[in-house]
Amino acid sequence: MAEKIVLAFSGGLDTTVAVKWLTETRGFDVVALTVDLGSQPNLKAIRERALAAGAVQSYVLDARQPFIERFCWPALKAGALYQGQYPLATALGRPLIAQLLVEVAAREGATWVGHGSTGKGNDQVRFDVAVGALNPQLKVLAPLRDGMAMTREQEIVYAQVHDLPIEVKAESPYSVDENLWGRSIEAGVLEDALLKPPEDAFRWTSSVDTAPAGSAVIELTFEQGIPTSLRRSASPSGGGQGGALALVEELNLLGGLHGVGRIDMIEDRFVGIKSREIYEAPAAVILHTAHRALEDLVLDAEVGRFKSSVAAEYARLVYQGKWFTGHRRDLGAYVQSTQSAVSGTVRIKLHKGSAQVIGRSSPYSLYRPQLATYSAGDQFDHQAAVGFIKLVGLPVRTQAAVQGSAVTEPLLEDDRHVVEVGPGALEVRLAEPVLRAAVPGVVDPNLRG
Ligand code: ARG
Repeated sequence: MAEKIVLAFSGGLDTTVAVKWLTETRGFDVVALTVDLGSQPNLKAIRERALAAGAVQSYVLDARQPFIERFCWPALKAGALYQGQYPLATALGRPLIAQLLVEVAAREGATWVGHGSTGKGNDQVRFDVAVGALNPQLKVLAPLRDGMAMTREQEIVYAQVHDLPIEVKAESPYSVDENLWGRSIEAGVLEDALLKPPEDAFRWTSSVDTAPAGSAVIELTFEQGIPTSLRRSASPSGGGQGGALALVEELNLLGGLHGVGRIDMIEDRFVGIKSREIYEAPAAVILHTAHRALEDLVLDAEVGRFKSSVAAEYARLVYQGKWFTGHRRDLGAYVQSTQSAVSGTVRIKLHKGSAQVIGRSSPYSLYRPQLATYSAGDQFDHQAAVGFIKLVGLPVRTQAAVQGSAVTEPLLEDDRHVVEVGPGALEVRLAEPVLRAAVPGVVDPNLRG
């Protein structure tokens, strides 16, 4: 009896050819699994294509809701932005797909799972590591990496020879992955790190130039770190309790209209390569901005500081495919515990590419106007500051007295810098700073004038 493999099937050229190749060349019974995370594939058409390509079974499913609630919300609460920027759309989608591959494999009695990643990126790591974490007995095959080895042209010929139902569209100039949390765009001309991304790379967002001249103001409400409602300030009745999915979809549309959420970065891939990546992630960028603003209001300063290092670690784990690990779960437990007071409302102005926080409120706000004010009603104890500073400065004064001052280069090196320019008027002329080349002799030829 043929061994069964559950293949993550997008319905594109690569995975359509892979269904046939796995059947013909490797002798598998192929079960195709298509997961919708919000790129709105036509699930019915994809199902038909899988079966027509020779799959013995085709599963399709809409996983948008669990994707948002079980993967995106935890990452949002953690403040997880890889290299401080990338909201991790692709990286968050992979473990969900891997989990479904494993669960369908169990249901089907399959001994293998497969996916369409190449041998060069992070996605292969994410799939393989996640599958191993969920069921170490399962074997993983990535045809594009593990033996199928066809160029695009060869795949098209293979599909024609085998009568596979593919639409030969003009080749996309980019490699794109898309879900509700964002759109990842790479390759093609984007590989020139100096080149401004052409407008055709973007699908969700207006450019700053074409975004509306007028701004939109929105109010986002959070309960324990989770966004629960979105309101347009201009229409007090509009918006509201549409659920997680509607909220993210609406923010993607509105943010995209105002050109919010474009990211252009050099990214450190897990496989050791630096690559130039473009993202569109209006909802994720707006939600991270708002969530952070609310945390600034309600989190104790020490928690805020410590949590930002947890955020960086959490983002790295997600990026590197370590979603299903004890370490991620434990960091998640800390994050969850920090969110008990992260409830309230943040007002954001969307305008010409920016999402600017313009107000926030919470019943748990630690911001006390009577302590902060410079006006009448000030309750801050100014005299207490004197003793506070005396103790804060104590170790510094002790060290300076015993070991000498930590200043090594005085600013006023000698009296020649102080020039008398009039009666009682002294002017200080500091020595010219010396400019040193960062790396002597190395000049970027792209930047040569
Ligand atoms: N560089 C991003 C990441 O590793 C996006 C990868 C997108 N995949 C693709 N096939 N374009 O998360």
